Amino acid sequence: MKQIDPCTLVLFGASGNLSRVKLMPGLFRLDALGRLPEKMAILSVGRGEVSQEAWHADIKGMLDAKFKKGYDQEVFKRFIARNHYHANPPTDPNAFEKMKDVLSNEAVFPQNLAFFLSVRPSDFAQVVDQLASVGLTNEDKYWRRVVIEKPFGTNLPSAKELQASISKHLKESQIYRIDHYLGKSALQNILLQRFANTVLEPIWNKDYIDHVQITNTEMLGVGDRTQFYDATGALRDMIQSHVLQTLALTTMEQPKALTPEAIRAEKIKVLEAIRPIPVDDLKHHAFRAQYAAGEVNSEKVPGYLEELGDSSSVVETYAALKLFIDNPRWKGVPFYIRTAKRLHEADTRIAIRFKKAPLQIGEGQHQNWLIIGIQPRECIKLEIESKIPGLDINTRTIELDAANRQDGDESVDAYEALLLNLMEGDNSQYLHISEVEAQWRLVDPVIEAWAKDRAPVHQYPAGSRDPEASKVIFEAEDQFWRYSIALGGDTH
Ligand code: BG6
Repeated sequence: MKQIDPCTLVLFGASGNLSRVKLMPGLFRLDALGRLPEKMAILSVGRGEVSQEAWHADIKGMLDAKFKKGYDQEVFKRFIARNHYHANPPTDPNAFEKMKDVLSNEAVFPQNLAFFLSVRPSDFAQVVDQLASVGLTNEDKYWRRVVIEKPFGTNLPSAKELQASISKHLKESQIYRIDHYLGKSALQNILLQRFANTVLEPIWNKDYIDHVQITNTEMLGVGDRTQFYDATGALRDMIQSHVLQTLALTTMEQPKALTPEAIRAEKIKVLEAIRPIPVDDLKHHAFRAQYAAGEVNSEKVPGYLEELGDSSSVVETYAALKLFIDNPRWKGVPFYIRTAKRLHEADTRIAIRFKKAPLQIGEGQHQNWLIIGIQPRECIKLEIESKIPGLDINTRTIELDAANRQDGDESVDAYEALLLNLMEGDNSQYLHISEVEAQWRLVDPVIEAWAKDRAPVHQYPAGSRDPEASKVIFEAEDQFWRYSIALGGDTH
């Protein structure tokens, strides 16, 4: 357990959805686990005036909603005592001076400060400017850290602009750019499974691997986020961040050490080695679609355009890309990455198909698959060919299936892990600016080309499997989308 300095977490956007569903419950759980330092305060900052009592009642509501089975009342008392509220009206030119005055009360607020900006992305730069203008980013005596929620920019130029703006006031070590997938234990496990075992690494390359699929599908639709989503789309929302980070962890070289710098250095290298997607041959490298009305969990649901109320939108709710990594390990191996809302299953996994075995016995023989399940099930599965007992020589696929999670294991939400890292001063599970830039550099040309092409977008019924037309990106006839449960031979 790392030592955490006394500190204050200043939470901008504290009454928003992220704070209600993830941050407050996450901080409460850390408190219950004894992971918050005794001297640790939370100052929630919002636009409107709210009394301390009303804010405490609001927090209680957040915890009641999250922990339906109840929670420890002693911990609750301790947690509530850490919590304070401060109104920071956008119309008040002296708002940040006033906030600084409040924070200067050392008896209540430890002076190491972490600012969590859960605000509109267009406000990130301005909030940092204002924090700096009143001296709150100054690290002369105490540490000062700023968490920037996703998305960091909306394309490469805007990400660079945001970086230029905040780096006027903050050193890289003070900036914590979130990709919450990096807080997931299952993602952190990828590096361990690859490098803490002897058996996987020797075959983890172009000599043995036919192709890799990284998939993140959801059964949920865009819900009430239609406006946000229509300005964003699946490529920006999921591929640019979570899916490319999963790819980086799957493909990076072994870091010199398990230090933040060494891990990031290898991730940056591999992200920068991804071949740019050829926009002049986009149709063989990228596929997009939108969900139409359909059925999910036996319930009829509307299509994306209906929910949006705008039939002219070409924004994708399904995106698949084919990528190649131009380095010696991965030369020529296709990586198919995809994400979707409203597919038939909610599943995140890495599926690796190995090359044909040297010995080919007959028609029914399948290639080996190794599948790393990220969510909902954290597992590792290996499918191998084995003789069907009997007089004839025939094979079938059998499966070694191991759960990574066992009964009684701690279940930690990604945000809990990331909040703890923030207070510890460990930004290894946060993004470096070079990763953000490499990710935008890769997806920007596709986003631009797709935005320009106003032809109606391919539709798939909500609750269905991948659109048949998406297979256009496969390199070889015998490649197919791999699903979570079926054994290797299932092509549907
Ligand atoms: C967010 C996206 O970053 O990740 C959402 O904006 C998506 O659209 C979510 O639903 C998925 O996160 P998780 O942790 O539920 O897989």
